[in-house]
Amino acid sequence: MFSKEQLNAFSKTETPFYFYDLSLLNKTLDAIKKAAPEEYHIHYALKANAHPTLLELIRKAGLGADCVSGNEVKRSVECNFSNDKIVFAGVGKSDKEINYALDQDIFCFNVESTHELQVLDQLAKNKNKKANIALRINPNVDAYTHKYITTGLEENKFGINPYEFDIVVEELKKLPDLNFIGLHFHIGSQIGDLTPFKNLCLRVNEINKWFIQKGYLLPHINVGGGFGINYKEPDNHSIVDFESYFNVFKQFLELQPQQQVHFELGRAITGQCGSLISRVLYIKHGINTNFAILDAGMTELIRPALYQAYHKIENISSSSAKQVKYDIVGPICESSDCFGKAVELPETKRGDLIAIRSAGAYGEVMSSRYNLREPLPSVFI
Ligand code: LLP
Repeated sequence: MFSKEQLNAFSKTETPFYFYDLSLLNKTLDAIKKAAPEEYHIHYALKANAHPTLLELIRKAGLGADCVSGNEVKRSVECNFSNDKIVFAGVGKSDKEINYALDQDIFCFNVESTHELQVLDQLAKNKNKKANIALRINPNVDAYTHKYITTGLEENKFGINPYEFDIVVEELKKLPDLNFIGLHFHIGSQIGDLTPFKNLCLRVNEINKWFIQKGYLLPHINVGGGFGINYKEPDNHSIVDFESYFNVFKQFLELQPQQQVHFELGRAITGQCGSLISRVLYIKHGINTNFAILDAGMTELIRPALYQAYHKIENISSSSAKQVKYDIVGPICESSDCFGKAVELPETKRGDLIAIRSAGAYGEVMSSRYNLREPLPSVFI
């Protein structure tokens, strides 16, 4: 739902653009602070949206940064996240990226393979430094989400599998330039039901016990992110139920008093505060359908084309009482460039503004220059 002031500003702005509701972002951050026990460390996953304006509010709310590339580490540093709150994950960190993160003395590298441990140890040695590391574990817990965003199953490329633990522990003894400080988990994204998080906790308990028995009482346990948002009803559920989410971890995670819990939330923080605003260029009457052709396409928001993801689509200009079904498509030369099929909207005409909701996470960051499209601006009101 947009205010009159916002609609007025939209009508004077060249489309397409991303609109971010900073007041909703602040309310979401307040809700996290209220729901999370004080001792929980929350990192924001920059991969969801790394816009400096959003990052400033997120940093001011006291969150740390979760990064998956050297440039995300750089962006966090530039946006004044404290270096001891920056974590760096990813299966394929390049030497250049590792060296940069070492220079920044970040809090922790989440390491995804034995080979990466060896490389990181060598690069730290070259700099006369010691790197803090957490082992990213593949817990084999099903997130029951889209297969492209499931990360915690044996078949996925992420993390170290339990059958490798003995080898990894032996290897770590030979790597003196690494401080082994934690375990890291992340099972997937857009997880709507809390059961996978409960299952994750039970698995973390087992794995943590295994490491304790081997003599490693690790001070940091990072359970990742993945809490999903409601794409169907963005206005009724603009802030997710953080209380129930954190309660699962309070209830089921069994850690030692010395162990601290870390989270890496992305979508649940920025997802609902962003919308892609676009204009209708043409209406075309097909054989069985009408097409509303927008000036935004899969280059601006790829989620529907890539994951068949649903985003609520609204005509925010028309007040016609007549409802008509449209396939909402973009201008890109691909048939997958479709935001929604048979979407019922008030009768729509050229020039109407269309809002594609819940696009604050994995929207702008995944946009591309395909078809030599222009990078699109962001608008904050
Ligand atoms: N931590 C790790 C290690 C991750 O891989 C991810 C997301 C997160 C945290 C944050 O997850 P979140 O809380 O946002 O679910 N492009 C896809 C989503 C990819 C998620 C990748 N990893 C989409 O548009 O749905």
